[in-house]
Parts: sequence; C-alpha cells; structure tokens
Amino acid sequence: MTVDRRYHITTFGCQMNKADSERMAGIFEDMGFLWSETPDEADVVLYNTCTIRDNAEQKVYSYLGRQAKRKQSEPNLTLVVAGCVAQQEGEALLRRVPELDLVMGPQHANRLQDLLEQVFAGNQVVATEPIHIVEDITKPRRDSKITAWVNVIYGCNERCTYCVVPNVRGLEQSRTPEAIRAEMEELGRQGYKEITLLGQNIDAYGRDLPGSKPDGRHLHTFTDLLYHVHDVPGVERIRFATSHPRYFTERLIQACAELPTVCEHFHIPFQSGDNEILKAMRRGYTHERYRRIIDKIRHYVPDAAISADAIVGFPGETEAQFENTLKLVDDIGFDQLNTAAYSPRPGTPAALWESQLSEEVKSDRLQRLNHLVAQKAAERSQRYAGRIEQILVEDQNPKNPKQVMGRTRSNRLTFFEGGLAVLKGTLVDVEITEVRAFSLTGIPKSN
Ligand code: SAH
Ligand code: SF4
Ligand code: F3S
Repeated sequence: MTVDRRYHITTFGCQMNKADSERMAGIFEDMGFLWSETPDEADVVLYNTCTIRDNAEQKVYSYLGRQAKRKQSEPNLTLVVAGCVAQQEGEALLRRVPELDLVMGPQHANRLQDLLEQVFAGNQVVATEPIHIVEDITKPRRDSKITAWVNVIYGCNERCTYCVVPNVRGLEQSRTPEAIRAEMEELGRQGYKEITLLGQNIDAYGRDLPGSKPDGRHLHTFTDLLYHVHDVPGVERIRFATSHPRYFTERLIQACAELPTVCEHFHIPFQSGDNEILKAMRRGYTHERYRRIIDKIRHYVPDAAISADAIVGFPGETEAQFENTLKLVDDIGFDQLNTAAYSPRPGTPAALWESQLSEEVKSDRLQRLNHLVAQKAAERSQRYAGRIEQILVEDQNPKNPKQVMGRTRSNRLTFFEGGLAVLKGTLVDVEITEVRAFSLTGIPKSN
C-alpha cells in the first residue's frame, strides 16, 4: 500500500456517530491512510450521516453532490456514505448518487477495512444487513486527548412513533462489562480524564446479555455497570447518556450520589409535557412520572444539573397540549434543553398521520419554547455565582486565546485565564465571577 493516500471524514448527528467516526478513522490510520483536513484533497471521502430530521438528511445530499461532481474529473476518488442515511436508503442511495462506491450502515462501522478492500477490488458495495457488532479490535483515532466516548449499548428496541433510530441502528446489543472496563482502563493509561458512556437508551443496558439474578432481575444493569467501572485508574469523571424515563431507576440516582467519579448531571429527554401526546409518541410514561424522577434526583443529589430533549408540533398537538410542555419546562427549570420541531420521518408511524401541523405553527412553538429555555437556563446559572467549581481543562477558548475552557462536573462550559500548555487535562478550582445562560467565567484559585 502506498503511504500517501489521504482520507477525510465529515460527521453529522449524535455522539454515537462521532464515536463511530473515531473508530473508522482508527481503521483508516491502521490501513496507512493519512488524515486530510479538507475533503477536497482526500482520496477517500466518507460522510457519516444522520437522518433524525429531514434537514439533517438534506444536508448530506448537498455535501455529497459536490464530491460526486469532483469525481467526474478525478475518477480515482472513493466516495463512502456511512451512518444512518446509508442504513435508511441502502441501494436507493446508489441510484440517487451513482458515483458512490460504498454505502454502509452503522452496524458495519468496525468492518470498514474489509468493505474498503472490496471497493478497491473494483466493486460497488452496499452493507446494510443487520449483523452482530464485532467487538472493537481497532484503536480509535480520538479527537480529544482528555475526554472520550465509550459505547456500552448499541441500537434501540423502543418504538417511539416519531423516531428513525430503531430502523437505522437496529436491535439493542450490549457490550460486556469486561470489554467496557478494558477500554476504559486503556483510556486511563493514555491519560484520558473523562469518559462518557453512550447508549440510545442506556437504561436498557444488559437486558440482552445472558444470565439473571436469583430475584429474576437481569444480571447486568446499567447501575451495576457503574459500580463495575467507577474506579478505573486515572479516570476522574464519568458521564452517561441517554436516560429513558420509562426505565430510569432510583438505584441509578443513588449510584450517582455515592460514586465520586460519576458526575452530577442527568440527561433525560421528556419529549412532551402532555400525557396524550406522550401516549401518541408511545413513550411509556406520564409527565407525573417524569416529575417524580426529577424530585427523586433533587432529593439525593440536590445540585444535579438536568438536561433533556423535547419535540414541539408533534402531529395533533393542540395549543393547550403545547402549553403543558411549557409548563413542565417552567416548573422543572432545566439547565439545558435540546429542542426540535417535529419532522416526519420515512418508515415511522407518526409520519403517516393526517394531523400534521403547519411549519408556521411548529416554528412559532419552537421559538416560544426556546425563549423560555434560555430564561430558565439563565436562572439555573445564577446558583454558580461566587461558587468554587472544579473545571477539567479541555481546550483554548476559540474566541479568546488568553483563556482556556472546560466544564464543571455538572457540564456547564466555563472559561478562565490561563495557558493551555500547562493546564490542559488538569482539574482546576475556579471561582465563578460571571454567569450566562449556558456558560460561566471565573478566576482560578491557587490551592
Ligand atoms: N434515544 C434518545 C434520543 C435519540 S434522538 C431518547 O430516547 O430520548 C435525539 C432527539 O432527537 C430525541 O430525543 C428527540 O427529541 C429528537 N427527535 C427524534 N426524532 C425526531 C423527529 N422525527 N422530529 C424531531 N425531533 C426528533
Ligand atoms: Fe428513538 Fe425512542 Fe429509541 Fe430514543 S428511545 S432512540 S427516541 S425510539
Ligand atoms: Fe442521527 Fe443516527 Fe444519531 S439518525 S441522531 S446519527 S443515531
């Protein structure tokens, strides 16, 4: 193999995709490829795609169009579409963009080398059949040297009526506690300080693994996993996402309260504050249950940050039902909320319902919700004023080279003056002097 071949990966979508891209980058490097800063100078261009909403999917087609054009003058260019659009569209993508060499679903990410070799042998390849995800033998090329993602469960067995994820990510597959701990130990040895454990529905962890306890419970729950990995040498902070209100347990909150490395931050999407809409979404809980979960969290971990996702303009959502979402947000006061207007997705039940709302209604509701979110986040930030917070320094402030930035244990972005060379990867006690809705500024306290 020649050594000067270059690859570029553009990643869309969620943390799962980012983690998959890091593993695929590792495979490219193993194969002797070099990283190219721009897709336009790469010999292999890979788009790792997202289809959660229509605008995410459309973005991919516009990027792809440019490279397909480039291929007309550079026939040796190899074009790959990976990720969730690849899984959703499969062969249809080849008809839409005949210049494509490889279409590969998310379950095939670890097979990239094998698939590329088929392409280099002259084939056009589509890999979207469901498979058992082979335990990761590659070394990811991680973007950060300080924080890392570790998958604990792939896929999702829920059937929320708006969501493509189960179609494109397949059935749940948990990694074993041993494999997860081994990956974390390696990260600890390499100097990583913070690890985020990932799953679409992390509370489902373990239910597909063999074995059960004498009382009939699964042998491995996510809470058990936290107890199994919380003390990996070198790893100072552990985060996890995403929690599902339907399966969320009090034991998990207790573990978080008890284990010093597990950070005081819960990301628990509620999607809607209205019981009828929650039912139509097939979420399997009520807003009352959601509120009880938050009460429990605030009982055991009073200062915990709470974030969530919400959708406005779900089919049939009335103004009064939307106001129930506003009310929930007003009552709980989230530290952060990811909001989105409902987008009908292919292959999902809700997309076929006749009660679709107009774009005007959806964007009006989105704006009103976002306004409230910013106001509540600013209120939540107030509690940091004057406090000393532990910051893990990750990088320079891109807007002010005299400052470094990092996060509190509760995940608030924080800036303070200092040099990155000395501070990167260290935990610094910082007195918070300025608070904004979604970030803080402070001055370091010398210990
Ligand atoms: N597994 C997580 C979320 C995965 S998708 C969970 O169960 O909450 C990330 C977020 O995208 C979802 O929480 C939801 O708020 C949003 N989302 C998913 N499908 C959507 C759609 N069709 N339209 C708008 N937002 C959507
Ligand atoms: Fe989608 Fe629901 Fe699964 Fe989350 S739990 S990934 S929203 S189907
Ligand atoms: Fe998007 Fe796939 Fe993640 S659809 S949000 S990249 S699971």
